[in-house]
Amino acid sequence: MISRDYLSELFSLDGRVAVVTGGSSGIGRAAAGALARAGAKVVVVARKEQELAATVDELTAEGCRAAWVSGDLGTRDGVRAAAEAAAEVFGEPDILVNSAGINLRPPMGELSEEVWDTTMALNLEAPYLLGQRFGPGMAERGYGRIIHITSQQAHRAFVQSGAYGVSKGALESLARSQAEAWSPYGVTCNTLVPGFVMTPLNERLSSDPEKVAALAARTMVGRNGLAEDFAGAVVFLASRGAAYVTGQSVFVDGGLSVH
Ligand SMILES: NC(=O)c1ccc[n+]([C@@H]2O[C@H](COP(=O)([O-])OP(=O)(O)OC[C@H]3O[C@@H](n4cnc5c(N)ncnc54)[C@H](OP(=O)(O)O)[C@@H]3O)[C@@H](O)[C@H]2O)c1
Repeated sequence: MISRDYLSELFSLDGRVAVVTGGSSGIGRAAAGALARAGAKVVVVARKEQELAATVDELTAEGCRAAWVSGDLGTRDGVRAAAEAAAEVFGEPDILVNSAGINLRPPMGELSEEVWDTTMALNLEAPYLLGQRFGPGMAERGYGRIIHITSQQAHRAFVQSGAYGVSKGALESLARSQAEAWSPYGVTCNTLVPGFVMTPLNERLSSDPEKVAALAARTMVGRNGLAEDFAGAVVFLASRGAAYVTGQSVFVDGGLSVH
């Protein structure tokens, strides 16, 4: 009993409200599930209603509190509308996870302004706008957790990092700027850095067994990531227990980055 109370004091998210962008697929879906199972009321935000509803149905069937908002986070108006709708469901969020992202990889010389703008809008501007919308309120209430999902390509260029790598590098800087502004008021801001994770984002690569094996060999654990690998890290960063962890990039990559 002592251990249950102790763990609950450190990590329980009972009474918290979370918004998870990209919460209907891959890492975002695993993050939403982990937060909900740890006690938070979770709103998942993405575009496709069927996937959103399936995610929420799975969680509510387990007795969790969850809801969805469909919105396009690729435009500023879309972000603003989705943020208002998300806050209406369970109230202003204590936890924001930015997982919605795209990875378009034309060779650098062919990188168009359109690909640049699309990438920056979803991968960087949406997290910035959502931070502006929710961060000050979190600071006023004295508790907040902002968690961005970045990439190895925030740290080094490979496989045509292009606009994607730039957006993720900037997202890590955004986390530090947000951490500087709001950490004194109980709002921590961090990033989780995946390696290669088997999700729909990587469908094309995941279907090539040789490439999958070669990538797995680059990790220390000896396998590629699964969305579920992010559950513990997300709950930790969202919890009271992580109050002194801020402005950090936390690698959840099986050792890929240090191998
Ligand atoms: N998988 C990896 O190996 C890997 C590696 C490094 C970093 N990451 C990062 O991890 C995050 C999650 O990736 P994932 O692999 O979990 O991807 P995923 O399975 O493809 O999920 C992406 C999510 O983002 C949503 N989304 C995409 N465009 C959107 C838009 N315009 N507006 C609102 N929502 C949108 C998608 O839903 P809808 O399509 O319905 O909108 C979906 O829920 C991304 O930021 C990615 O860059 C992934």
